[in-house]
Parts: sequence; C-alpha cells; structure tokens
Amino acid sequence: MESSNTYALVTGASGGIGKEFASRLAAEGWALVLVGRNEAKLQAVKAGLAGTRADESVVMPVDLSEPGAAGRLHAACVEKGLVVDLLVNNAGSGLFGESLSLPAAGVESMINLNVSALTSLCALFGADMKARGSGCILNVGSFAGLNATPYFASYAATKSYVFYYSLALRAELSGSGVVVTCLLPGYVRTDFDDNAGIASAAYRKFSASNSLGADEVAAVGLAALGRRRAFAIAGARNRFAAFLFGLLPRTVPPAIMKHFLDSLV
Ligand SMILES: NC(=O)c1ccc[n+]([C@@H]2O[C@H](COP(=O)([O-])OP(=O)(O)OC[C@H]3O[C@@H](n4cnc5c(N)ncnc54)[C@H](OP(=O)(O)O)[C@@H]3O)[C@@H](O)[C@H]2O)c1
Repeated sequence: MESSNTYALVTGASGGIGKEFASRLAAEGWALVLVGRNEAKLQAVKAGLAGTRADESVVMPVDLSEPGAAGRLHAACVEKGLVVDLLVNNAGSGLFGESLSLPAAGVESMINLNVSALTSLCALFGADMKARGSGCILNVGSFAGLNATPYFASYAATKSYVFYYSLALRAELSGSGVVVTCLLPGYVRTDFDDNAGIASAAYRKFSASNSLGADEVAAVGLAALGRRRAFAIAGARNRFAAFLFGLLPRTVPPAIMKHFLDSLV
C-alpha cells in the first residue's frame, strides 16, 4: 500500500479494533492521525507504534458525536498540512436494550457518531482524495447491520446505513482512483459490550465464545481494502450465517434473533 508523505487517519484509535488498525498501518509504514476522545489513551497508542514513520503520527482528541466535529477535524488536518490518503472510519458505539426504553440522548449521540460523523468524514476527506485522484476509505459497519436486530435495533440500523452508504459511495467513486471498502465484523473482543450497556452474563458468555480478536478483524479489513473489495465479513461462521440469513424473507431473521436473544437476556 502506498504511504509516502501521506497520512492514514483512524477514528476510534484509542482502543479495540481501531488501536489494531493503527498498529498494523504504522507497521506498514504509514504515519497516522489518531482520533478519539481520550487523549491519554491516544498518546499511549502513539507511543507504542512501530514503523518507519510512526514518530510523525499525530494525536487529535475529538468527540465525533458533537455536531460539526467532523468539519473541525478535517479543518485541523488541512491547517497542519496533513494529507489524509487513507481514512478508517472505525469509531462507533452501540446501545443494547428495548428500543422504547433507551435514553433518547444516548441514541442521538450514537447516531451522530455512527452515521453523521462517518458520512461527513467520507464527504470531506473523500472530496480531497477525488481531487487528487487517489485514496482509500475503510468504513467499519457490522454483521448486525445485515439484518434488523431486536434489542440492537437503532445500532444495527446505523450499521445498515454504513453498509449501504459505503456501497453507494464506492459506486459513485468508481474510476476516480478512490476506493471504498466496508468491514463487517461479528462479535469482537473489545470494550464494545461494556460500552453498549450489555449486562446479561449469558449474552456476554455467548458473545465471548463466538468472538474474534480485534487484531484479526483489523487484518481482515485491511486485506479487503488492499484487494479493493467492496466489503468483507470477518469470520467464516459470520459469513455462513450471513449467507443463510440472506436466503430468508426479511421478517424472519429478526424473529429468530428475538427468540434467541430472549433466551439470553
Ligand atoms: N466489538 C464488536 O463486537 C463489534 C462488532 C461489530 C462492529 N463493531 C464496530 O467496530 C468499531 C470499533 O468498535 P470496538 O469494538 O473497537 O469498540 P470499543 O472498544 O468500544 O472502541 C470504540 C472506539 O471508538 C472511540 N469512540 C467512541 N465514541 C467516540 C466519540 N464520540 N468520538 C470519537 N471516538 C469515539 C473510542 O475511543 P474514546 O473512548 O477515546 O473516544 C474507541 O477508540 C465500531 O464502529 C463498532 O460498531 C464492533
């Protein structure tokens, strides 16, 4: 992958899958723009990076759920002269529970992060890439976004948005030199379940026993981007489940999942 004098910007780089993206990209020779809310964690990630341009990496603490945050982040990169040639839209959060009981402010904040910020970052950095005639965008969706998912209804819907938005943007940019890939992970061993407010021990046991490591998932995403794939579902079991669910009428997977999740929560 080309990495001279340009930067890879990774959102949600302070932990989980984003930290692994950062680590792998630095090892490939990229200098990074590390984005997240927790500056101390971002600095620690930067300090741990290895690679020929790791020292040039920059930490940018931003809360991407705030209105206008994507624009401020883009403006800061332009002001510092950082040319972002690879955008990894990884930051995201989930909220688990009965949809009508979830706190409205929390749901809005999640939608701002998962949908609005991702869309604005694609538009702002994508336009720069298109003008240069080269660039890559890797958007992190979710296996959950392939179907309506009870108890993760709004989260899964944000990830459906990420998937379809990514496919459409990819089509619009075909021939421009800008590639868009969407990574669809299933369960991954990160802080995601804690942050999503999943309290059920049975659910957490199930997700832990079916999860992949964050490093493995980041590797799948970068490999798919390297091969210029439209999307990649991480994990053979998830690919098989996606295939089976895809054969069913749209209303059936959510009914199956509700039945299944009712037994866990
Ligand atoms: N783990 C899974 O099972 C799973 C499955 C499918 C898809 N995914 C997706 O994978 C992506 C990464 O999740 P993860 O599993 O690595 O979760 P994680 O461990 O909770 O990490 C989330 C990352 O996003 C950042 N972030 C959260 N809110 C933010 C905000 N408002 N502004 C800026 N950064 C913010 C966090 O950093 P700060 O706290 O420093 O802000 C952190 O670096 C997400 O898009 C998620 O939806 C995860």
